[in-house]
Amino acid sequence: MTLKTIEWKDNSVVMIDQTKLPNILEYATYTDFNQVADAIRTLVIRGAPAIGVSGAFGLALASLQSDAANKDELISYMENAKKILFETRPTAVNLGWGLNKIMEVANNGNTVDEIRKNVIDYAKKMADNDVKINMAMGKNGSELFDNDDTIMTHCNAGALATVGYGTALGVIRATKDSGKNVKVIATETRPIQQGSRLTAFELKHDGIDVSLIPDTAVGYSMANGLVDKIIVGADRILRTGHVYNKIGTYQVATMANQHKIPFYVAAPLSTFDMKSNPEDVIIEQRKGSEVTGIGDKKTAPDGIDVINPAFDMTPPELIDGIITEKGIAKAPFEESIKKLFQAN
Ligand code: MRU
Repeated sequence: MTLKTIEWKDNSVVMIDQTKLPNILEYATYTDFNQVADAIRTLVIRGAPAIGVSGAFGLALASLQSDAANKDELISYMENAKKILFETRPTAVNLGWGLNKIMEVANNGNTVDEIRKNVIDYAKKMADNDVKINMAMGKNGSELFDNDDTIMTHCNAGALATVGYGTALGVIRATKDSGKNVKVIATETRPIQQGSRLTAFELKHDGIDVSLIPDTAVGYSMANGLVDKIIVGADRILRTGHVYNKIGTYQVATMANQHKIPFYVAAPLSTFDMKSNPEDVIIEQRKGSEVTGIGDKKTAPDGIDVINPAFDMTPPELIDGIITEKGIAKAPFEESIKKLFQAN
């Protein structure tokens, strides 16, 4: 059984507290949208599709929390909640996507009760669809991988970054389920170690062969023939094929290019931002203490200046294919991505 990261249960949101992994598998339960906003901000839940669904569930909670007497009051309460949820993390586009979808549903309702029911139903449907989309993506992507491939991945684009199954790790799961034997190399992903804490945990949990490397061993692994292919997830993909993903992805892609190793990205259409240009994208900068320590242990001198961007951009020329639920986009990306949306 793959892990279920987030769900709606008895008018509350239940999610795995990822800050406690890999040591403790514990679920947090929230009935207030402000708690959900805090959970996104502090990485109790993270990963682009998972925070998209968290935003939707957060707004569903807000609809229940409001004591609005009519539709207008409810919409204004939900707009305020949307702003608070939206401001938690700036880079992944799925958050805004999930929030906007729910506000659309809310605006189409007539009464307070009808809006509450519709937004809860819709948010639950978004969560169910997330898993279905990941499985479709997995099936499409599995064709790119061969028996006995060793596949490198960076960060966590797995069940824990989605509602379930995963994007990049979903492709790996589907490849395995199609009868091919594959192994995974997971990078540690400093500073907050989504690779070692989350990817290694969830693959081991599911019995998938995984070896962990420090980020500094990416070049060594490729140069020594340990890697056949690479797959990562994405937080935002532009119409031009520029991919924003966890800091370090650009290094992995550059190294893959140097060693002629295929580099793939897996993401649902909800991760695409068809309007922005690279200069419009805000890269989240996180606190320095993530770099000056590991967990509670201090590993740098007091008062040191830190640069801690959470994401970087991989240019399209380093990418061999972008796997989606509607098919695989290849260069020239502007054309192939447009076609995926036309098929939608
Ligand atoms: O900071 P995080 O842990 O939210 O970053 C997550 C990533 O960069 C993932 O690779 C991305 O969201 C894709 S998840 C399917």
